[in-house]
Amino acid sequence: MREPRFYIRAFGCQMNQHDAGKMANLLHHAGWRPAEDSDGAELVVVHTCSVREKAEHKLYTELGWLLQRKKTEAGLVIGVGGCVAQQEGEALLRRFPGLDFVFGPQNLVHLPELVRDAQARTRGLRVDYDDDPQARFELPELHPGFAATSPGRAYVTVMEGCDLFCAYCVVPRTRGREVSRSSEQILGEVRALAAAGISEVTLLGQTVNAYGRPRPGMARGELGFAELLRRVADVPGIRRIRFTSPHPSFVGDDLVQAYRDLPQLCPHLHLPVQSGSARVLADMNRRYRPEEYVETAAKLREARPGLALTTDLIVGFPTETREDFAETLQLMATVRFTDSFSFKYSERPGTPAQRRGLAELEPGEAQARLEEVQRLQASLTLAAHRARVGETVEVLVDGESRRSGVQRSGRDPQNRLVNFSAARDIARGEYARVAIEDYTPHSLLGRETPAGL
Ligand code: SAH
Ligand code: SF4
Ligand code: F3S
Repeated sequence: MREPRFYIRAFGCQMNQHDAGKMANLLHHAGWRPAEDSDGAELVVVHTCSVREKAEHKLYTELGWLLQRKKTEAGLVIGVGGCVAQQEGEALLRRFPGLDFVFGPQNLVHLPELVRDAQARTRGLRVDYDDDPQARFELPELHPGFAATSPGRAYVTVMEGCDLFCAYCVVPRTRGREVSRSSEQILGEVRALAAAGISEVTLLGQTVNAYGRPRPGMARGELGFAELLRRVADVPGIRRIRFTSPHPSFVGDDLVQAYRDLPQLCPHLHLPVQSGSARVLADMNRRYRPEEYVETAAKLREARPGLALTTDLIVGFPTETREDFAETLQLMATVRFTDSFSFKYSERPGTPAQRRGLAELEPGEAQARLEEVQRLQASLTLAAHRARVGETVEVLVDGESRRSGVQRSGRDPQNRLVNFSAARDIARGEYARVAIEDYTPHSLLGRETPAGL
């Protein structure tokens, strides 16, 4: 008999993508196998994101299709996980009678039993917080195949949750309080990944560089984030370390020093700034002033010349004036971000900004500001790419270039996409030395240097 198949549709951030890998691992242990697409699966889990209204709507579209299918396929099991599941909880079960179970991000470990109950026609809801905040990390050893994002690269969870409560943000409500995972577990996982041929790890957490700060439920005597980076760098076989998402308030001197000392630590930092206005940052409860951010950026670049900084920006926060917005453009030009993700403010349920009842900007104005940010970013990105021509970089190959079949593509240490012509038949997951000769708005273009690596 054919083994039962599952399909996980994950929206949202890297933590959600990685959660999907952990769920696949759990289901694999329970005898399930992955399906190519949701049509070929008897179990479909939609792993949701709630960060902006648009993200939440993706769930309702997806669920519409699935529930339609269930009308003719009674055995189909449908579950909803992730941040919308945590936010809406039982309301989802009430609204969608065909839905089998709902579970929050802290309750991943319960997925196999929720599936078994669903097969026995019992609907499930797991959105409570465990008494033991460490329980969420007690998962079976992650098979490298489920941790890898592409050959040679994998995610590793180091902390979860957020205690910072930025005014616009739903994450503290959906992901719960900040909890750091034990360094022993983390390093054990990194060693296992390295032994399986993974050379690049990305450490994950909602406020990843808050790792190890004293919090209830945290093991005593744990390391801080900079020390954790040093230990990860000591693991043989780990050539590249990245992490996401850090908060500017926790970039201390020890982290700056790590950029000086650790060659494995990649010269790229995605450091969300959100706004360039001191007043808007205060309204957002971001806990730093624009000049502190600029100073942090300068310190990091002094410690690691060539460091690429990327960021997140929100335009049209309810209290943002035209002058505040001009300060955001100014800060972008000062810091010279290599890239950025920019978003129009979206009101989210239960956030401090929503509770304050702040009126949103006129949509046309927010859209105009977004386009202005994106125009400026396009020119900054192009300038950053132009400045790279003539460098020779190490590229971790992750595929054939879309530009042509004989070419390869991958990421350089700054995390830029590099398309290059290869001097040999090079596999995904291997490294190549590439001379950068040209650029486009979205990538660097080069040629593998004959010596290889
Ligand atoms: N933990 C990360 C970011 C989480 S959300 C951090 O603290 O940096 C990812 C990005 O989505 C944020 O950086 C922010 O730019 C954006 N975002 C979050 N809430 C938003 C909202 N309500 N409206 C618009 N953008 C939002
Ligand atoms: Fe959200 Fe702020 Fe926490 Fe990031 S630091 S997850 S933006 S509350
Ligand atoms: Fe979205 Fe939740 Fe991540 S709201 S961005 S999936 S933490």
